[in-house]
Amino acid sequence: MQQATGTSVAKIILLGEHAVVYQEPAIALPIAAIQLIAHLTPRSDHHQQIHSEFYTGSLAASSPTAFSGMAQLIHSLLRFFAAEKQGFDLVIDSALPPERGMGSSAACSVAITRAFYAAFETALNPEVTLNWAAVSERAIHGNPSGLDAATTAASRPQWFVRGQAPHPIAFPKTGSLVIADTGVPGQTKVAVAQVAARLQTHPDATRKLLTTLGQQTQKGALALAADDLVALGDALTAAQAALATLGVSTEALANLIDAAMAHGALGAKLTGSGLGGCMIALAATKAEGQVLQAALQTAGATATWQHDFV
Ligand code: PMV
Repeated sequence: MQQATGTSVAKIILLGEHAVVYQEPAIALPIAAIQLIAHLTPRSDHHQQIHSEFYTGSLAASSPTAFSGMAQLIHSLLRFFAAEKQGFDLVIDSALPPERGMGSSAACSVAITRAFYAAFETALNPEVTLNWAAVSERAIHGNPSGLDAATTAASRPQWFVRGQAPHPIAFPKTGSLVIADTGVPGQTKVAVAQVAARLQTHPDATRKLLTTLGQQTQKGALALAADDLVALGDALTAAQAALATLGVSTEALANLIDAAMAHGALGAKLTGSGLGGCMIALAATKAEGQVLQAALQTAGATATWQHDFV
């Protein structure tokens, strides 16, 4: 083993969350300005130490903690490299807020996998990266679509259908996406289970909502290809209406969405699982995005980010 680092980035779902679990398409963007870096340094003793904001301590003692999914991945990687006894320090530096729908856990899995492959001087292709990320994502999320891992490992916006290889999608040259945090953790597992339960109790109405979400994703893709930010905004707003009916929006999300719309957003919606987490708002220009950021902070957002399309 040699000293190595692995990096990954935050992801934002533009359109298609929840419906993507049921085979509808989704569009997600890597946000290159928000990075996660895993630094792996070999040790001459046999201590395997993790240093991160989620968990700090020995790998062996991490099983009962929130780090257990990541620990499963690390154990599997160590077995794969026949290095179960290898001592190391793994430092995880993340600018991604955890549990905010930005793909923090997937970004962590991707960066750790990249760091281990680099440390063992082994080439790693995108498909294998996603297979490894699925080890911890399954442990953490139960039934992940794979969208998070695919996007946190990507450098361009992705069109994603569950079970198929994701592919890059065209984006306009103008426009800006503002991301705002409600300050409340999102609850991916709970939200996904809630939608699954709704599908059991109200199959027809719920299926219709999932189809509507898929249609808005298709419209969003057409709008992106046509550089039509107004149509893209409309697709975001229509998707938010369906997500709210699905029961995954909250008052805090709705407040921020209303504030963005009142300050000139072309469209706005929750992003990720909902039940907390972040919302996104589309602005026509970088300057209008800055106006939205200020308005969202005034409306109570605990953090905001801006991602200009160019
Ligand atoms: O909250 P996030 O960013 O982990 O997104 C979850 C997206 C869902 O569609 C709700 C679930 C999934 O696995 O795709």
